[in-house]
Amino acid sequence: MTKAVERRGRKVPALDVARIREDFPGLGLAIRGHPLVYLDNAATSQKPHAVIEAEARFYREHCANVHRGVHYLSEKATSSYESARAKVARLLNAASPEEIVFTRGTTESINLVARTFGRSRVGAGDEVLITAMEHHSNIVPWQMLVEERGARLAVAPVDDRGQVVLEEFERLLTERTRVAAFVHVSNAVGTVNPVRQMVELARRRGVPTVVDGAQAVPHMPVDVAALGCDFYAFSSHKAFGPTGVGALWGRLEHLEAMPPYQGGGEMIRKVTFEKTEYAEPPFKFEAGTPNIAGAVGLGAAIDYLGAMDREAAAAHEADLLDAATAALGEVPGLRLIGTAAEKTGVVSFVIDGVHAHDVGTILDREGVAVRTGHHCAQPLMKRFGLAATARASFAFYNTREEVERLLAAIERVRQVFG
Ligand code: ALA
Repeated sequence: MTKAVERRGRKVPALDVARIREDFPGLGLAIRGHPLVYLDNAATSQKPHAVIEAEARFYREHCANVHRGVHYLSEKATSSYESARAKVARLLNAASPEEIVFTRGTTESINLVARTFGRSRVGAGDEVLITAMEHHSNIVPWQMLVEERGARLAVAPVDDRGQVVLEEFERLLTERTRVAAFVHVSNAVGTVNPVRQMVELARRRGVPTVVDGAQAVPHMPVDVAALGCDFYAFSSHKAFGPTGVGALWGRLEHLEAMPPYQGGGEMIRKVTFEKTEYAEPPFKFEAGTPNIAGAVGLGAAIDYLGAMDREAAAAHEADLLDAATAALGEVPGLRLIGTAAEKTGVVSFVIDGVHAHDVGTILDREGVAVRTGHHCAQPLMKRFGLAATARASFAFYNTREEVERLLAAIERVRQVFG
């Protein structure tokens, strides 16, 4: 059990990390002769037994298609799938499950909004506002849209600490802005954006907002009603659920007005060769057989998170971030990239004279898994004058001992290149 930590003058509850780790079989692996130190949670998280078992149970005990059969198994599959949708709605504090569209993940969720909502709103000469810290998944779909429509992408800059310059964000909200899309938490540098404030600035100018929540949902409670945004996207696999599934939350009035994303089965009410009538949301946006087992697994991940003291988990991750930031700050020749006042557990760094991929390779030899490269955020890397960083990203199951192992492995890098 970790000790209670004092954070920002407040005692926060302890998290029983040793017990939690037992829930995650991946954390018990030995890698290259060392116990695994898994610090690549921003890329994907490890999965608890409950999630693995929920998916396996679906395939073993109630495997059938959804919304298509009157037989027992089909009804069982449908109720499991729809119950997962209701869990996502509760997780995000959506007004109703109809506002939740299952997708393949954040990327597909944002593409869906750009190709439907965006396409119906953005015309020649219009603007879509994003920020300089976006993941490619919140750049490229908008770029494709503005190229098609003869519109333009406006980009709010970030400062040297990796924070959006709010005055610039506000200034770039013009009478031409049709959509503002921005990340809740930066995958590359961990900055937590003041989303509520950004949404409010956009709303004052009547601009709808799309929030990429991929790195927020695993680390903090998210309340779309309180944020006031119009769309919110996230992926299951970063939030301890299976890969290949995620969700888009959208205000029902938008979902009702939007044209479909893809055509096919499931998304229709009636088809003739002359005309097709579409189903109501969310089914209008779920053409084809969905990732049923994935949705069931995501439901199990949400249950798992729901049973956890999330305040204690966030405090524990903040403790790991503080410890790693302080220790890495003492390493000669190491520079931290992204030192925002509000961050989640991400430490991105470069070491003088050593390519990030070499850092990653040596860390891997010590059993320490981090991501190296541009983190699908090349424009942000360019902003810092870099091609790549090494990035350690924490989850609630990581420990101070693992931070020490990271430090020892970095020391090894310095010895090899020293
Ligand atoms: N977006 C994921 C990451 O940050 C893959 O690593």
